Amino acid sequence: MQIVKSVAEMQSISCKLRTQGVVLGFVPTMGALHKGHLSLVQRATAECETVVASIFVNPLQFGPTEDFAKYPRTFEEDSRQLELEGVSVLFAPEAGDMYPEGAVTTITVPGVGDRLDGASRPGHFTGVSTVVAKLFHIVAPHHAYFGQKDAAQLAVLRQMVQDLNFDLELVSCAIVRDADGLALSSRNQYLSSTEREQALVLHQALERIEHSVADGERLSSTLLQIGKNTLDAAEGVQVDYLAIVDPRSLLPVAYAEKGALVAVAAYVGRTRLIDNFLVN
Ligand code: PAJ
Repeated sequence: MQIVKSVAEMQSISCKLRTQGVVLGFVPTMGALHKGHLSLVQRATAECETVVASIFVNPLQFGPTEDFAKYPRTFEEDSRQLELEGVSVLFAPEAGDMYPEGAVTTITVPGVGDRLDGASRPGHFTGVSTVVAKLFHIVAPHHAYFGQKDAAQLAVLRQMVQDLNFDLELVSCAIVRDADGLALSSRNQYLSSTEREQALVLHQALERIEHSVADGERLSSTLLQIGKNTLDAAEGVQVDYLAIVDPRSLLPVAYAEKGALVAVAAYVGRTRLIDNFLVN
C-alpha cells in the first residue's frame, strides 16, 4: 500500500489510473478506524480494481466547541488495517495542503444541509460537502463508499453529486453494530462504561419503533411518541432529535412508509451519538 501525503501526487496517481481504464473505488474517512469503516473498504475492494482510502480529520466540519483537537488519531494502526484489507493507496493529506492560506471557496447544500444534524451543527455539512468535493476532485473515483450510519451526510452528498454533476456513483453501506446493537462509531471511545450502557437506548428506541411498524403502526406521530418514551426513560441521555423523514430531502413524513428514514441523535454525557434505520 502506497501512503500519499501530497495532493499533487494523489492527483497524478489517480489521473494515471483513470487513463489506464482502472475502475477506482474510494473510501473517505477521518481515521480511528473500526469495523464499520472496514466494511466500506471490503465492499470497495470487492467491487473495484483499485481502492483509495483517505484519512483526514477535516477541521472545516467541526464547530468551535466540538471535538476536533481530541478526535482520536490512530494513524499507524489504521494504515496497517487498510493494507490488510487490500487498499492500494492511502491518501492522508496535511490540513495546510488541503486548505492552503487564502482558500475561501466552500460548498453549501441549502435545505437538506440544514436539517437533522445540519440543524444541530450549523456549518457542519458545509465542511463535509467542501472536503468531500475536494477529495472527489483529487481522487477522481468511479465509486465512492459511505455508511448509512451517517444518513443525513449521505443525503447532503447525494444532492451535491447530483447538482454539481460529479461523474461517480455514491454507494451506501449498511450500519455495522456491536453485538449488543450499539452502532460502531469512532466517538464510542469517549464513553465511560456507564455511558456505554446508557448509549444502548438509541438502538432500543429505534427497535421499539421498528417493531411497532412491523405490527402495522404507520403514523409518524405515534411512532415518534413510542421512541420518545423509551429515550425519556433513560438516564444520562439528552435527545437532540428523533425524526421520521424522507431519506433524500430529510423533510418529515406523516406516515412511515417503506423507505422512510427513522433517525435519532442524542448526547450521552458529553458525547453526541447518532443512529437510524430505513423502514422495511
Ligand atoms: P468518519 O466518521 O470517519 O466515517 C467514514 C465513513 O464510515 C462514513 O461514510 C461513515 O458513514 C462510515 N461509518 C462510520 N461508522 C459506521 C458504521 N458503524 N457502519 C457503517 N459505516 C460507518 O463521515 C466521515 O468520517 C466524514 O464526514 C467524511 C465523509 C470522511 C468527510 O470528512
